[in-house]
Amino acid sequence: SHEPSEPVFHTGEAPSFAFAFDIDGVLLHVAKPIPGAQESLKYLQDNNIPFILLTNGGGKLERDRVNDLSSKLGVELTVDNFVQSHTPFQELTRGPQGLGDKTVFVTGADVQKCREIAYSYGFKSVVTAADILRDHPDIWPFDALMESVYGGSAHPLPLPLHTGEHMHDSTALKIDAILVFNDPRDWALDIQIIVDLLVSRQGILGTYSAKNGDRSLPNDGWQQDGQPPVVFSNSDLFWSTTYHQPRFGQGAFQAALDGVWARVTGGKELVRTSFGKPFVETYRFAERVLNEHRAKILSMGKMSGKEMAPLRRVYMVGDNPESDIRGANEFASPQGTEWTSVLVRTGVWRPERGEPAHKPKMLVDDVKAAVEWALKREG
Ligand code: G3P
Ligand code: MG
Repeated sequence: SHEPSEPVFHTGEAPSFAFAFDIDGVLLHVAKPIPGAQESLKYLQDNNIPFILLTNGGGKLERDRVNDLSSKLGVELTVDNFVQSHTPFQELTRGPQGLGDKTVFVTGADVQKCREIAYSYGFKSVVTAADILRDHPDIWPFDALMESVYGGSAHPLPLPLHTGEHMHDSTALKIDAILVFNDPRDWALDIQIIVDLLVSRQGILGTYSAKNGDRSLPNDGWQQDGQPPVVFSNSDLFWSTTYHQPRFGQGAFQAALDGVWARVTGGKELVRTSFGKPFVETYRFAERVLNEHRAKILSMGKMSGKEMAPLRRVYMVGDNPESDIRGANEFASPQGTEWTSVLVRTGVWRPERGEPAHKPKMLVDDVKAAVEWALKREG
């Protein structure tokens, strides 16, 4: 298969379609570009055909990840056409129910980076496991092993909360929300702290809510005593890396937490808030980002002055039926844009794993074939 020789849109009308590309398993295997990825993005860019990158990855500031991707993929990317798993967390800081002025516990692979990302979104009081370990070293009996990991990034905990109740120590820490930014590294410590917070009274670390202690209460006794909500940025059980078999993602961490929660609560389901693909909040957020980006490049590009047709179709190119394909298939765009799912064979899904759990509109070998198929269809 080869690229069309002539630019497809030489007549100057603005394309009414665009692309959303998943990253891991479509464009990259971790740091390694997948064959055809660079030339496909470059072709779209040279022909002013809008696209965004829409990934369940995370753990870095948007601008840092985008700079990293630009150099790896050899195309100029900006935060204008980039949405990662926790990018929509920015909206959690705003509004009357906003968390901007509350105290949040954050975690992920690099907890200090998660704190910096949270600050960049407007969170003002951010606590990590490093801070908690420093002031409560006995909260996890193996903290000595963690010194090397957390020692350098511990911040003082927010000012002690005078709860008016006798605390075993005066630095009562109240957490108002738990935010998982990307795949935690230290599942044991994170699960210990998160469950401590979820059984606490009002999110005060070290307390135990009588409600949760009393099993005679109706089923909704759990997480009903003002415990902090737990917010995840990604539910991928697997993701595609340079290893030849898919690796566990944040969805596996959630499954481990679910297992511990069920044991602690006698079988209760963990109430959570989920972002990332396939969830509608993420697709709605991504469509807004795509529309703004499209308006910007079409007004700057050769199409300037031309009436810009509304965005009719987005080709969602992904490797994971559970996130990329399901999300596009199920998304009902508020503006009526059709999201067409295209599954590639370079990532999580493999034919030997049986039929994809969510059927794509089109199944192709790789991202290059996906772009060619879409352009032919639009041409
Ligand atoms: O942690 C990244 C992984 O969960 C999937 O990323 O780019 O395939 O959505 P992506
Ligand atoms: Mg992927």
